[in-house]
Amino acid sequence: MEIKIPVDVDLLLKYSKSGPRYTSYPTAPHFHDGIGAEEYIRHLIQDNTTIMNRNLSLYFHIPFCDTLCYFCGCHMTVSNNQKRIGQYLDYLEKEVDLTKNLIDPDRQVIQLHWGGGTPTHLSPEQIRTLGEFIRSRFELHPDAEISAEIDPRELTFDHLEALNEIGFNRVSMGVQTFDPTVQRAINRIQPESVTRQAFEWSRSLGFSSQNIDLMYGLPHQTISTLENTLNTVIDIDPNRIALFNYAHLPHVIRHQKLIKDEWLPDTPLKLQMLKLSIEKLQEAGYVFIGMDHFAKPDDELTLALKDRTLYRNFQGYSTHAGINLLAFGVSSISMLSDLYVQNHKKFVDYYQALDQNQLPAMRGVALSPDDQLRRDVINRLMCHFYLDKKLIESEYQIHFDEHFYAPLQRIDKMQDDGLVIHDSDQITITPAGRLLIRNIAMEFDAYLGQTTHSYSRTI
Ligand SMILES: C[S@@+](CC[C@H](N)C(=O)[O-])C[C@H]1O[C@@H](n2cnc3c(N)ncnc32)[C@H](O)[C@@H]1O
Ligand code: SF4
Repeated sequence: MEIKIPVDVDLLLKYSKSGPRYTSYPTAPHFHDGIGAEEYIRHLIQDNTTIMNRNLSLYFHIPFCDTLCYFCGCHMTVSNNQKRIGQYLDYLEKEVDLTKNLIDPDRQVIQLHWGGGTPTHLSPEQIRTLGEFIRSRFELHPDAEISAEIDPRELTFDHLEALNEIGFNRVSMGVQTFDPTVQRAINRIQPESVTRQAFEWSRSLGFSSQNIDLMYGLPHQTISTLENTLNTVIDIDPNRIALFNYAHLPHVIRHQKLIKDEWLPDTPLKLQMLKLSIEKLQEAGYVFIGMDHFAKPDDELTLALKDRTLYRNFQGYSTHAGINLLAFGVSSISMLSDLYVQNHKKFVDYYQALDQNQLPAMRGVALSPDDQLRRDVINRLMCHFYLDKKLIESEYQIHFDEHFYAPLQRIDKMQDDGLVIHDSDQITITPAGRLLIRNIAMEFDAYLGQTTHSYSRTI
């Protein structure tokens, strides 16, 4: 029997505030330029020998798109200039070669992901070339999860065939909404037939897992249009669904000004949309994995959630704990055992570093022992909805209740609201608390309030 999440809108309203998503801890606003290529190299070499799980996860950022979706918060640029795209791919290869020299050759890749922007904005030929290049430089584990983000609008069968040929076994498709009025307001016209075609192609080629990205809180979106979109998605029957709360931050992401505030549903309506979505998706058999993600009961994410082996990094949820994530391309973030490093965001800076045979690392953060402890606590809470205090005590040589005295006082207040069960040995997040996991994790964040960064709403 799968756990069902109850949605109490009044409770969600009480806790709705801005906060991090904890794809890293410390979070990106705490990265600083005191960390660069030198530290990255030192930590890479160190992790070759010291890390327990020597497998690798690789991420490639393809920052190009055909057109601009007005809501987009990703690091992307609109370009159809083949020369420009080709030049970027050449630099990506150079970055791989500089990095590869620092990695023990016997370390295998267990996870490979292309994100963006839009990886399928590359031509099928460019996809094959980049894929073969990666395979020539790294040893891919035979069971590696190899996934790409796909925009169905400009996808051809040949694109999917190219991905399939070079070993991709998973696809994630951007849909957002099927409603034409909303599509016009976000500048993303995507007929249902186009999405269905992309699914048929990917199924016929044998991709083992398909995800759909949806959004709620979009301009002119209503309960009824969202319900229609959900009905269609349920009929398409993907293995996984990501349902993102539209993060509208026009003062940071300037093109979002093209979406007028008055076109957006207000917070209570957004929470009704969330309620509807969760209820419908659960009714259709999907399990709430956490933080915007749903999966079928037999999906490995659902199984990993149950046996507490779920893990999370910049690529989203994963079943691979504790591995180095090496990220390539502009703005991408690598994660080593105790270091995060982000690449230059601007093409010119990224290219300039590589022209000088330097890794294009721009900023990052080295984790102190306390950061590592808190990262582990936050990760366990977010991925397992459970924390064994005794296990943390023995691993980090602390007295949990003393070390986290102040956060635990606040956690006990959340217990009164039915979000957690806290006793002498463990913290368990209740089904109602699972939706508010960001709020719960925030209590263990030592840095909150130290920057003026605008985070998205927790719910
Ligand atoms: C890189 S795109 C997916 C692949 C491809 N570019 C596409 O759009 O079809 C990543 C996803 O992030 C989500 N996203 C982008 N901007 C967002 C925002 N401002 N708030 C919430 N989710 C957002 C969308 O659901 C989008 O599908
Ligand atoms: S949502 Fe996807 S296709 Fe649209 S602009 Fe962003 S990255 Fe590009």
